[in-house]
Amino acid sequence: MKAQQLKEEIDKWLEQYFQGKGGYNKLIYEAMSYSLSVGGKRIRPLLTMLTYGLYGENYSEVIEVAGAIEMIHTYSLIHDDLPSMDNDDLRRGKPTCHRVYGEAMAILAGDGLLNEAANVLIKHALKHGEKALEAANIILEASGVEGMIGGQVVDILSEDKKVDLDVLNYMHRQKTGALIKAAILAGAIIGGASKEDLGILDSYGEKLGLAFQVKDDILDVIGDTNVLGKKVNSDLENNKTTFITEYGLEECKKICIDLTSECIELLKKLKVNTDDLQQLTNFLLTREY
Ligand code: IPE
Ligand code: IPE
Ligand code: MG
Ligand code: MG
Ligand code: MG
Repeated sequence: MKAQQLKEEIDKWLEQYFQGKGGYNKLIYEAMSYSLSVGGKRIRPLLTMLTYGLYGENYSEVIEVAGAIEMIHTYSLIHDDLPSMDNDDLRRGKPTCHRVYGEAMAILAGDGLLNEAANVLIKHALKHGEKALEAANIILEASGVEGMIGGQVVDILSEDKKVDLDVLNYMHRQKTGALIKAAILAGAIIGGASKEDLGILDSYGEKLGLAFQVKDDILDVIGDTNVLGKKVNSDLENNKTTFITEYGLEECKKICIDLTSECIELLKKLKVNTDDLQQLTNFLLTREY
């Protein structure tokens, strides 16, 4: 299956997931669905589906895992946009969750999505066994304080400061790279990739994750709000330390190009057909949103 078709599958799965649920707590379902609904690129679940597709054919084996990763990612965006974090009003082309539902409900919607993602992963592992459990473990660790949350902590602590390049690298690898790498590995593990291939995909995920956040930093400077679906210059206004503040725009563009080439070379080392994954990798370099 091609990426566009897989994206439609993911969108469909996410759209139906909370449908018809809720009683007195119905508002949180509305808030979660609002942020989850179409508008995101679905890069992480797509990566999971595509790396699974390198080895397996039955995508129904992995769609729940892909959906859970998107729930975790969406929760991270809801919280990232909160007034106490990046204080952003626009996300995925719409007012942010807290702008529509208020801060308290947005915090709870984020909590709810994370919790539900863990439920989805556990239920999936109960059905599919050891490999699914391993994938769940990788995803939940990558989302935690040694992964995404750790990166967000350092991001907040680095506001208004000049930080070492080590710290900057840690921040980018953790806040964004960790979940992207986990999405890649989870799909491959469930598909049945060999140890050797997982090693290559680990390096690919590491580089792609870093390139993704550097590109995000670039788009914050040169992107167009209408295309991007979120406000530009958010980093500047928050006095964030980013790859742009440390390396400058031109060097960042070069870093992205170099990392992307390295990613493609790694994919070529695999003995399976990686055309779709290569296409997505190149899209991430040239994307304008
Ligand atoms: C934005 O992620 C936040 C980062 C972790 C850099 P995406 O660029 O994947 O956002 P959506 O999901 O497409 O909205
Ligand atoms: C966000 O990084 C990383 C997350 C874990 C959400 P940014 O703060 O740069 O993401 P955007 O630019 O708001 O999407
Ligand atoms: Mg942020
Ligand atoms: Mg932000
Ligand atoms: Mg950003």
